[in-house]
Amino acid sequence: MRILNLGAGGFIGSHLTEHLLSSGHEVTGVDTHADKIEDLLDHRNFRFIQKDIRQSGFDLDRLVSETDLVIDLIAYANPGIYLRQPLDVFRLNFIENMKIAECCVSRQKRLVQFSSCEVYGKTAASVVPGKLQDPEDPALAIFSEDDTDFILGPVAKHRWIYACSKQLLERVLHAYGLEGRLSYTIIRPFNFIGPKIDYLPSDTDGFPRVFPHFMEALIKGTPMKLVDGGRHRRCYTDIEDAVACIGRIVDNPGRVCDGQIFNIGSPENEVSIRGLAELMRDLYAERFRKPDVPLPEIVEVTAEAFYGKGYDDSDRRIPDISKARTLLGWEPRFGLKEILERAMQYYVREHAS
Ligand code: NAD
Ligand code: UGA
Repeated sequence: MRILNLGAGGFIGSHLTEHLLSSGHEVTGVDTHADKIEDLLDHRNFRFIQKDIRQSGFDLDRLVSETDLVIDLIAYANPGIYLRQPLDVFRLNFIENMKIAECCVSRQKRLVQFSSCEVYGKTAASVVPGKLQDPEDPALAIFSEDDTDFILGPVAKHRWIYACSKQLLERVLHAYGLEGRLSYTIIRPFNFIGPKIDYLPSDTDGFPRVFPHFMEALIKGTPMKLVDGGRHRRCYTDIEDAVACIGRIVDNPGRVCDGQIFNIGSPENEVSIRGLAELMRDLYAERFRKPDVPLPEIVEVTAEAFYGKGYDDSDRRIPDISKARTLLGWEPRFGLKEILERAMQYYVREHAS
């Protein structure tokens, strides 16, 4: 198949491009960055276009018309950016992504659209504290693609502009699908981790996700910072498991993925951010630590001190993956400890010289 992979140079995009090429597809990748796919640039079935999709001269229509399938990964995907550049998040994650969707409509191409588990927002337990009999019941945090209601925070907490942009895009795709004008599949990833996730904070002026923040602290012996005590919980998913599932969605056997939304995540890997910090520190001490670098202390910081004004958080989110299991026969294989070791290994090799 000829596949247009938009965002091919990112964390998920780089792993997915490798998988698609090794599965025999012809891939055209687009991204502003190429550093994560340098080893793929000479592949005979890979064409890379290093461009910003917002630049004039970027001919989206031509690229879409030349392909069989479009995969759209392009987005600002880090909470630090949602707070610093909320309008840019809306413009890229909704307006630019809409142009891609509308091009697929006009050219009649199938679209695999990356959304986010952030669309679910918060749990009911978090908005009615003290009113539920068992607020710790995991059933309150298990999110299903087609049944769960979305609970987002107020407008002034502009973390949610990301979730709203992704959610609105999903609704537009669904509406095009209802009119029979678009063949699409939506993916909601639940905190993928692996080699090449983001970058260390000191390597750029960007603001990565939690794993690279903790990794930098471990490598440099600086404090690991827990926002709001690190009480929020996530289910971490190995990038290799995730790509195996995305690959099945790309293949779309019997067209079972048409018009579907899929959670991709590892429900068994739930951990609080404090638990994540402690586990990463233990693993680092056991496997990677250099004797002359002290192990970091784990400290608490306020959300405002860490992110600035307007932060809010998802308290807990556990994916219901029964759709991926039954329609795709997919099952995540990696446990949390193994996932972290594999990702840490990469960072240590790349950065701890
Ligand atoms: P990423 O930031 O590594 O990848 C996004 C890529 O898009 C980057 O390589 C970036 O350079 C590129 N890009 C951004 N703006 C561009 C532009 N204007 N023109 C060309 N390229 C541009 O993030 P990721 O983790 O790989 O996420 C990919 C997608 O999956 C995003 O849509 C994200 O919202 C979604 N997602 C990811 C996760 C996760 O666990 N990683 C979770 C939920 C949702
Ligand atoms: C991420 C991003 O929104 C997207 O990449 C994506 O949509 C989604 O979740 C996902 O990966 O599934 P989040 O999980 O909040 O959101 O991203 P992180 O920046 O990794 O934060 C996780 C938690 O760690 C948050 O509670 C945050 O406050 C906390 N944190 C972050 C710390 O305690 N310390 C840090 O140094 C960094």
